[in-house]
Amino acid sequence: MGKDVIVACDFSSKEACLAFLDKFSGEKPFVKIGMELFYAEGPSIVREIKARGHKIFLDLKLHDIPNTVKKSMAVLSKLDVDMCNLHAAGTRAMMEAALEGLTRPDGTRPLLIAVTQLTSTSEERMKDELLINEPIDRVVMHYAENAAKAGLDGVVCSPLEAAKVHETCGASFLTVTPGVRFADGDIGDQVRVMTPAQAKEIGSDYIVVGRPITAAEDPVAAYQRCVREFVG
Ligand code: C5P
Repeated sequence: MGKDVIVACDFSSKEACLAFLDKFSGEKPFVKIGMELFYAEGPSIVREIKARGHKIFLDLKLHDIPNTVKKSMAVLSKLDVDMCNLHAAGTRAMMEAALEGLTRPDGTRPLLIAVTQLTSTSEERMKDELLINEPIDRVVMHYAENAAKAGLDGVVCSPLEAAKVHETCGASFLTVTPGVRFADGDIGDQVRVMTPAQAKEIGSDYIVVGRPITAAEDPVAAYQRCVREFVG
């Protein structure tokens, strides 16, 4: 799979999401559907967007006992999504079970990406509340290695971590990076950001871009600019 821009469709209803996608006539962006939209609309929203010809990253971050995750992944696989994810904190047994569940009878499966430590978790809280006493960047890299050993395809990480992840887990281990902003754009609530061009330079495989596209005056132009800067 080549480099691509994934548009985070963080909408609360099907109507809002489809009205946004209707603006695109020529291209069919790779779309990320998160918990908000999925819990509001259910699996039918995935089928509907898929039927319109979009690739789909279903961002539901599964984390449960291996058997439950395996069975849930089998359901997501039948939905024909292209990428889905889970928490690496569920351990390698859970990640391996997830892969088994995802794999279709013909051997194909969606890409499976791990979340390491959420960027909303600070090192202080990780130490105080989760009793993990290692520096957070070491924890992130260790979780990425666990995901690679379990056979997963990559991790969600900050663009700032992408190069290190590739160094640690191999060049073909995918880095899916949010926190992308245009050089002349609003940062919003993101803290450590990179432009699409910088994300390309440091080797991100996929960038996940939400508001710089969804809230733009001309979302199609913003998407095209992102693709131009990131894919070239
Ligand atoms: O609007 P914005 O470009 O900030 O959207 C980024 C998307 O990536 C959102 O869907 C957000 O939930 C997701 N995300 C993130 N940071 C992470 C993991 C996911 O921003 N560490």
